[in-house]
Amino acid sequence: MRVSIIGGGGLVGSCTGFALQAGGVVGEINLIDVNGDLCRGQALDLLHGAPLAADQRIRATGYEAIPETDLVCITAGLRRKPDESRLDLINRNVELFLKILDDVIAAGLRPDAVVVVVSNPVDVLTYLATKRTGLPPSQVIGLGTMLDSSRFRGLIAQDLGLPPTQVTATILGEHGDSMVPLWSAAQAAGLPLEKFPGWSASKAEELFQRTKGSGAEVIKLKGGAGFAVGMSIREVIHAVALDSRRILPVSSLVSGPYGMQEVCISVPTVVGSGGVRAQLELELWPKEVSALQQSARVLRETIDLVLTSNPNAAKAAVGRGASGAGQASGGGRGGLPSPSANGQAVRVTMGSGGSAVGGRPRVTISGQSGGGRGGY
Ligand SMILES: NC(=O)c1ccc[n+]([C@@H]2O[C@H](COP(=O)([O-])OP(=O)(O)OC[C@H]3O[C@@H](n4cnc5c(N)ncnc54)[C@H](O)[C@@H]3O)[C@@H](O)[C@H]2O)c1
Repeated sequence: MRVSIIGGGGLVGSCTGFALQAGGVVGEINLIDVNGDLCRGQALDLLHGAPLAADQRIRATGYEAIPETDLVCITAGLRRKPDESRLDLINRNVELFLKILDDVIAAGLRPDAVVVVVSNPVDVLTYLATKRTGLPPSQVIGLGTMLDSSRFRGLIAQDLGLPPTQVTATILGEHGDSMVPLWSAAQAAGLPLEKFPGWSASKAEELFQRTKGSGAEVIKLKGGAGFAVGMSIREVIHAVALDSRRILPVSSLVSGPYGMQEVCISVPTVVGSGGVRAQLELELWPKEVSALQQSARVLRETIDLVLTSNPNAAKAAVGRGASGAGQASGGGRGGLPSPSANGQAVRVTMGSGGSAVGGRPRVTISGQSGGGRGGY
C-alpha cells in the first residue's frame, strides 16, 4: 500500500511516518509538507533507519504523488494552544483544510483512495472531507476517538498496575469535550474492570477526566502530541492495508446508528480494505446512548456554525455530487459486511433492545449491497 502523509514534516505527520516504518506493513511512505526542508529532513532521518526496519520506499515529495497514492492521511493543521478547546480551533483550521483538500483533488485523488483525516477538529473536518472529495463516505475516515481510547487504556493500566495491552476500554463520540466513555464494556484480560482491587466510581471519573484533558496536558509539557497519535493512526492504516476488519472507534459519516444522522462521529466501526466496512450499533447503557446522541448534537451544531459562517465550507459541503469520485472498493470476502453500493457504511445493529423477539438478541444489517454476507 502507498501512503501519503500531508503535513508529514510536522510532529503528528513525522511520528506517523515513524510508526508506519516501525510497523513495516505499508510499501511506500510519502511525506508532503509546505515546509520543504523540514519534510526532506524527516524523510532523510527515516531513510537512515530503513535498513534496520523494513524494505519500504520513503521520500519527501509534493502533491504529484497523490495519483499513485492508495491512502492519503491529512495531518496538516494548526496546533491547539494550551487553553484552546478543539472546537475553538475550527475557524483557524477550516480554511487551511479546504485548501489542502482542493490541492489533493486537483492533483488527482484516485476514486478508490482512502482518506484518513487527523487534523482538528477532526470530526468536523472529516465531515467536510466526506462532502468535498465526493468519495463514497466509507472511504473517508476520521481518527475520531482512537487516540482518546488509547490514552484511556494507558492511564487505567498505569493506575491499577495492569498490562496496558490487556486493558480494553473505549471512548466514543466527539474527539473533544463531549466524548463518551463506555464503562459498560471496560475490561482487563476479559474481566470486568470494576471488580479489580482499587477500582471505584470516583477513580473511574478521575481517570476519564484526565483522559479528556490529556491533549492539553501533553501540549503544556512538550508542545504537542506525537508518539501516541502516530501509533493510533498506524492502527487505522494497517487495518485498511491488511483488510483486518478491526473494530475501531473511528469517525465517519453516520446515517442511523443510535439515531444519529448527517454527522461524522466515532461509533464502533469495522475497518478493512476500502475503509469503513460497517458501523456497529451494539446495545449500550441508556446513559451512554444519550451521551452519544448529545455528542452528535454538539458536533452537528458546530458543523452548522461552520456552514453558516464560512462560504467556502458551505460550498464544500455541497460536494462534488453524490459519490462522484468513485465506487466503494472491497468485494465482500469472508463473513463481514461490505460497504453498500453507494459507499455508505453498512449499519449492523446488535442487542436485545426494543425490537427483540421473545427476548432473543436481535441482529439487523442495513445499507448493504448484497456483496457481503453480513453474519457479524
Ligand atoms: N485527531 C487527533 O487525535 C489529533 C491528535 C493530535 C494532533 N492533531 C492535530 O493534528 C494537526 C497537526 O498537529 P502537529 O502537532 O503535527 O502540528 P505541526 O505544526 O507540528 O505540523 C503541521 C504541519 O503541517 C504543515 N502544513 C501546513 N499547511 C500545509 C499545507 N497546505 N500542505 C502541506 N503541509 C502543510 C506544516 O508545515 C507543519 O509541518 C493539528 O490540527 C492537531 O490539532 C489531531
